[in-house]
Amino acid sequence: EKPWIHDMPLPKSEYLSETWKDGLFDDKVVFCTGGAGTICSAQVRALVHLGANACIVGRNVEKTEGMAKDIATARKGAKVLGFGGVDVRKPEALEEAAKRCAESLGGIDFVIAGAAGNFLAPISQLSPNAFKAVMDIDILGSYNTLKATVDYLLESVQKHKPATPAHSATRSSFPTGRIIFVSATLHYTGLPMQTHVSAAKAGIDALSASVGIEYGPRGLTSNIIAPGPIAGTEGMDRLATAGGMEKASKGVPIGRLGTVRDIADATVFLFSEAGGFVNAEVLVGEYCIPLRLHLI
Ligand code: HXC
Repeated sequence: EKPWIHDMPLPKSEYLSETWKDGLFDDKVVFCTGGAGTICSAQVRALVHLGANACIVGRNVEKTEGMAKDIATARKGAKVLGFGGVDVRKPEALEEAAKRCAESLGGIDFVIAGAAGNFLAPISQLSPNAFKAVMDIDILGSYNTLKATVDYLLESVQKHKPATPAHSATRSSFPTGRIIFVSATLHYTGLPMQTHVSAAKAGIDALSASVGIEYGPRGLTSNIIAPGPIAGTEGMDRLATAGGMEKASKGVPIGRLGTVRDIADATVFLFSEAGGFVNAEVLVGEYCIPLRLHLI
């Protein structure tokens, strides 16, 4: 006869990870590209709230530095650096930013590759250079982010190696060395005027899977968060016309648009001890099935 779980003589930490608790990410450092954007800033804010220090990078100096200050208010004593003028298409700029981050904050344990470019354009209006601009920001930028940070992530894996493979000895020693690439859902069905972004996001999904498989044996995990329609984001503002938002929310099986908190929760899960066995996966923030019929 099996006992009920609450009758089991095991300490809670044996069967349940300590998640979403203050201090969960104490002494951890997150490096995030596109960190001044609506989704990525919410992801970083959640991690900082739970103890992490952070470095966000972006092209716009004022926006990036301002957002870093704003995120730092999430927790007393938080250190949040904002490096502007960093274009993810330039590997040297990213390498320099990652080095400055690691030197200032003591390493890099988590990476969010979130920088993205987008605009609406039908194929007839899409020049080869326009297509290339988005591919470069999204795919090459994600690759450059990985290259600039992977050695720090591998160092983090060694630093936080748990005492036993099954579970960590203390909360602060759970396995780290994790990367999340922010993708999207539009490429799963296709969407007019989004050829360039669909191609780029599909490439990021593939990139992440390969990273997870190649580096998994060395303790590093790589996963995709693929946000569907998320309320209040630049992407939705640009893509959805006036009535489109309401129609889009009706198209989501769960019956509402996503929120940035949904994405932040997914991020906390993937970076927490609880997400330690998730690798080379795609976490979809809800498909919007008739999105392509309603948006434009
Ligand atoms: C057609 C366009 C265009 C448009 C630019 N181009 N905007 N073509 N329609 N609306 C063309 C230009 O004419 C040029 O081609 C080429 O794209 C490069 O443009 P530049 O302005 O020189 O490039 P750059 O300054 O690097 O800007 C990149 C950008 C821009 C992608 C074009 O929009 C940008 O920087 N975006 C970053 C912020 C952003 O978009 N965030 C939103 C992410 S939302 P030619 O041939 O003239 O040289 C997101 C969510 C997706 O990703 C999922 C939603 C559901």
